Amino acid sequence: MVQIHDKHFDIYLQSEDIQSKVKELAVKLNEAYEGKSPLIIVVLNGSFMFASDLVKQINFDHELSFVKLSSYNDFSSLGNVLELIGLNADVENRDVVIIEDIVDTGLTMNTMVEKLITKKVNTVSICSLLFKEAAFKGNHKPNYIGFTIPDFFVVGYGMDYNQKGRNLQEIYKLKN
Ligand code: IMP
Ligand code: MG
Repeated sequence: MVQIHDKHFDIYLQSEDIQSKVKELAVKLNEAYEGKSPLIIVVLNGSFMFASDLVKQINFDHELSFVKLSSYNDFSSLGNVLELIGLNADVENRDVVIIEDIVDTGLTMNTMVEKLITKKVNTVSICSLLFKEAAFKGNHKPNYIGFTIPDFFVVGYGMDYNQKGRNLQEIYKLKN
């Protein structure tokens, strides 16, 4: 158990289980993008640790870019997604892979994917470590999913509770 701010969290996914899932996802991406040269877009901040582990296992030609697009405060998505910051790369006609820590309501991915489509990308896919399927009400499901999880709040492995807990190697769930 860990305490972050005022809340207690129980361990949910061990580091070894996360690492083997990351390898599985890399194998799938390596198959899908062999011979291609996609632009990988990492959605900061939450995805930094997942992306860092994932790209070490990738063996196709690619470029890496980082964007910020945050709508999340405290325990629930606000539903109003902010602007996309940092997409400097020319994405026209590119194959794009979005790297996400977690897809919850799906609103962040709606905004991302729709922005990319207006910029005339060739293809876009989403690789998310976690997917809260029961909370999802978006238009773009992740194409590559690490773990489908129930609708509870998680922290660690890049994900925060009010900016803390990102350094944890494991993923923890809010204790009820
Ligand atoms: P969505 O727009 O509702 O799909 O929310 C996506 C973003 O909210 C994710 O990229 C996360 O950064 C953040 N988020 C969603 N659920 C959680 C959670 O349980 N813990 C920490 N961050 C979360
Ligand atoms: Mg995120």
